[in-house]
Amino acid sequence: MRRAICFLFLLLLSGSLLGQAVRYDEGRKIWLLSMGASSYAMGVDANNHLRHIYWGSHLWRTEDLTPPRPLRDGSSFDPKEMFENEEYAGWGGPRFYDAALKLVRADGNRDLVLQYASHSVSGNELHIRLKDIRDDINVTLHYRVYPSEGVLRRHSTIENNTRAPITVESAQSATWHLPAGEGYKLRYLTGRWAAETQLVEEPVHVGTKVLESRKGHTSHGINPWFSLDDGAAGEESGRVWFGALAWSGNWRITVEQTQYQQVRVTGGYNSFDFAYSLAPGETLETPAFFAGFTAGGYGAASRTLHRFERSQIFPGGLNARPRPVLYNSWEATTFNVDEPGQKALADKAASLGVELFVMDDGWFGERNHDRAGLGDWTVNPKKFPQGLKGLIDHVNAKGMEFGLWVEPEMVNADSDLYRAHPDWVIHFPDRPRSELRNQMVLNMARDDVREHIFKVLDKLATENNVRYFKWDMNRAVSEPGWPGEPLPEQRELWVKYVRNVYEIIDRLRAKHPTLEIESCSGGGGRVDLGILARSDVVWPSDNTEAFDRLRIQEGFTQAYAPQVMSAWVTDVPNMNRRSVPLKFRFLVAMQGALGIGANLNEWKEEDFTLARQMISLYKRIRPTVQQGALYRLMSPRHGEITANQYVAEDGKQAVLFVTRHAQQYNLPTPAIRLRGLDEKAVYKMEMLDGPPAMGRQQPQAPVSREVSGAYLMSQGLNVFLRGDYDSTAVMLERVR
Ligand code: GLA
Repeated sequence: MRRAICFLFLLLLSGSLLGQAVRYDEGRKIWLLSMGASSYAMGVDANNHLRHIYWGSHLWRTEDLTPPRPLRDGSSFDPKEMFENEEYAGWGGPRFYDAALKLVRADGNRDLVLQYASHSVSGNELHIRLKDIRDDINVTLHYRVYPSEGVLRRHSTIENNTRAPITVESAQSATWHLPAGEGYKLRYLTGRWAAETQLVEEPVHVGTKVLESRKGHTSHGINPWFSLDDGAAGEESGRVWFGALAWSGNWRITVEQTQYQQVRVTGGYNSFDFAYSLAPGETLETPAFFAGFTAGGYGAASRTLHRFERSQIFPGGLNARPRPVLYNSWEATTFNVDEPGQKALADKAASLGVELFVMDDGWFGERNHDRAGLGDWTVNPKKFPQGLKGLIDHVNAKGMEFGLWVEPEMVNADSDLYRAHPDWVIHFPDRPRSELRNQMVLNMARDDVREHIFKVLDKLATENNVRYFKWDMNRAVSEPGWPGEPLPEQRELWVKYVRNVYEIIDRLRAKHPTLEIESCSGGGGRVDLGILARSDVVWPSDNTEAFDRLRIQEGFTQAYAPQVMSAWVTDVPNMNRRSVPLKFRFLVAMQGALGIGANLNEWKEEDFTLARQMISLYKRIRPTVQQGALYRLMSPRHGEITANQYVAEDGKQAVLFVTRHAQQYNLPTPAIRLRGLDEKAVYKMEMLDGPPAMGRQQPQAPVSREVSGAYLMSQGLNVFLRGDYDSTAVMLERVR
């Protein structure tokens, strides 16, 4: 009986909490969405326009919100439609900005004015249907609230219910409005090949800043993530609005400050070279655009995203296994792979404690260099006389899982696949087909190509004990012709390509439930929440140089959780001809999903000894790093010391990584104040470089190896780093 009452109580409690996530004030036509510590609101005005009202800290009363008021034209040049902050505007009427949806009807009419028609709520989801003032062209705005994670998901479905075809020319997922004002600061991630996810910040001025990819993949150049703050935010304080778009093709996010002090962010499919035809009854769905708000600064914004991704985006959710320590052959052997060579590397990798051995490029067809073989996914019999079985059995016998590199979307001209299907590559007939890295892009938008690629990968995964595909994509899409397809359908290639890539991965995963996917595109060219919904890990950059990586990782973790950030220890001298000590390389790579990409044949005994120690240490702190809360204490952009701290979800363990470069003579390491600990708790410290008694500590360091959270967060910790590229780590275990 008591159990039944308890259950009823829990049911009511969860019902009321769910009910609170989406609230509707029917009398005043206002919706209030509550995402834990933040809220979002919109309402319908007298003209039936759906207008944004609020986005910020949590509100608990719909009564506090004012329904959108009727506005008056500012002048004949400044119509009221320009001030209205519509949730999702059609391009029509006197709207002179980039609306969320632009289309053309068969008769050339391009006017689209969307009005509220109806809505429905189911659990944490709200669906609002908008309709054109005349035609049966509908847009459903989907809102999904994640109350425990503090995130809101938005996207739209465009539906042509008229009797004639329409062509969509721009389809955005959502427009996000921020409180009106000036002085906002934008942060975004830019870069280039081998220097991805560089965090930059700049003031928002009147005008539009366009963040985008036109390359067919997410791109190294800009990543689909943004954060805006009111100009006063810092790492641990201040109001921050942030978002990320889940799309791995041509995307666009515009950040706009209008002449009327409105600030808005619109994102979805890139309208560059975009067209999508909708026959009567057809629909187009836009990608998910996730966003959140925090009053806790940039650190809280990224921690919110990390938690959200882990519970709602990544395959396996919170039950996903921690990423195994990986070895990858690429930097050691490049294309020169063969069974004895890989076995020898596997033996050495296993002796270090590696758990997953990945053979990279070079194992198939005539792939002896990057000019041949792509497309021919059969094992090269000269390199692997027993097929892959000989190597895989060996790897498995050493207690490791096996992973394989593939680049399914590409062909070399010198390949059997291209000779059989030259028409399968993306190109305009009678025009040059550019070959970047000597390869062309298969038209993945075609259903026959999709089926072929699925079959090839399915066969590989069925016939071999492959636990993991490293799925690469080593060039961007250019000359985007689709011979044989009529216009404007040809332009649907941009969308259908990505959908088919997603579909292949989804089908493979469904058929091979333990198969894992690494997303790579010449490094970090395909990192976004769309691919991450179907990948277990991503390759952030081909630049594995540890010092450069500090910045790449700082940018990466603004948007994406350390769990999916593959990070290898490789050989020196590396990029920039820089040589940093092995310990430094390990301590940088241990801040993500640790891997080894070095040529172990060249390693000395002392390298193996250090690597073994580091890998076994990593295994102790792995859940804290991969699934904990990341606090950035000192940024590589601001000085010669970088410090990052990770705190386990249950608060029982924390780990601090500190690296130093370009020390000026006699300049001590400043005290590093930790975060995210419990003031009242006592932590046992374990210094990587031995206890203070070993002379590695400065005088003001705590003498005791047990320290309170209060002390660690107020006075801080002195670590002793001397000279260039010194590094250390401190582990903290809560003892009471
Ligand atoms: C890309 C990847 C590398 C490696 C090579 C193989 O550059 O980013 O990690 O797999 O391809 O050709």
